Amino acid sequence: MEDILASGRAEFVHGRVEDRSLVSNLLRERRVDAVINLAAETHNDRSLLGAEEFLITNVLGVQALLDACTEVGVWRMVQVSTDEVYGSIGTGQWTEESPLMPNTPYSASKAAGDLLCRAAFATNRAPVLITRGGNTYGPYQYPEKLIPFFCTRLLMGKKAPLYGEGTQVREWIHVDDHCAAIDLVLRNGEPGEVYNVSDSNERENRQVAAALLTALGADESLIKRIPDPRKGAHDQRYSMDSSKVRALGWSPQVPFAQGLLETAKWYRENERWWREIVESDAYRAFITRFYGAALGEDL
Ligand code: TYD
Repeated sequence: MEDILASGRAEFVHGRVEDRSLVSNLLRERRVDAVINLAAETHNDRSLLGAEEFLITNVLGVQALLDACTEVGVWRMVQVSTDEVYGSIGTGQWTEESPLMPNTPYSASKAAGDLLCRAAFATNRAPVLITRGGNTYGPYQYPEKLIPFFCTRLLMGKKAPLYGEGTQVREWIHVDDHCAAIDLVLRNGEPGEVYNVSDSNERENRQVAAALLTALGADESLIKRIPDPRKGAHDQRYSMDSSKVRALGWSPQVPFAQGLLETAKWYRENERWWREIVESDAYRAFITRFYGAALGEDL
């Protein structure tokens, strides 16, 4: 990031996505022709503690962007969404036509954002496209999602909490593959359309946990099963049919085993980056509030 900023090819503006005047002024002044909305509150567990921030960013923020894009007349906007808007699926795969049945405040807020995009296209022909990605992993991921959370915990020699039996299934996709798909949809997709973005890497959480133990040379005893904190909000399985984006010419390049190893290695080699986060007051407050009771002295 610092490299890109130093090269002058990128500019970082610190602000909130729902700040309407900031967003429309930026689009106008910088003559922006394409917008990719990656601004999101993304963590299910946090949304179970309080949904308001999720609604502000994922709903009001999307509407602010849509309005600004329409007002300024940008060429295209891509709304980066998630498979979680579909809910949970026992067998088979979701297509882009599957009903939206979200089960957490987070996924409900993302579904609302998707529907606002749909409405903007129907009402104003806003040139908006939606991508719905699978569980994404890779370097620089904030250590609250399963893979970066477990990597940082294991590297500190702390217990990593596996919810329930660890039998829920997620479909993992490397961040580089996910980004390539978003870029392709921006350039070659059809406005008003939705594109599922998934690699066919279905794994149970306990399999991912075991692979991380191996990758980091950590002992099995560091995985601690805890009563499922998500309870009824814990989706059992995600699985998407991604033939539509593949028909545009996309295919994932990073095999899961390799991507997971490289990611674990990245966390091992970049402790300075994540130490600052895990030692911050805000992070510790969340971990204590969410995991304190279940982890006890292992916190
Ligand atoms: P997560 O990375 O939070 O993504 P999502 O909820 O969007 O799928 O969680 C992935 C899976 O891992 C999910 O089934 C919950 C489980 N999980 C744990 O078992 N322990 C943890 O500490 C976390 C963060 C997640």
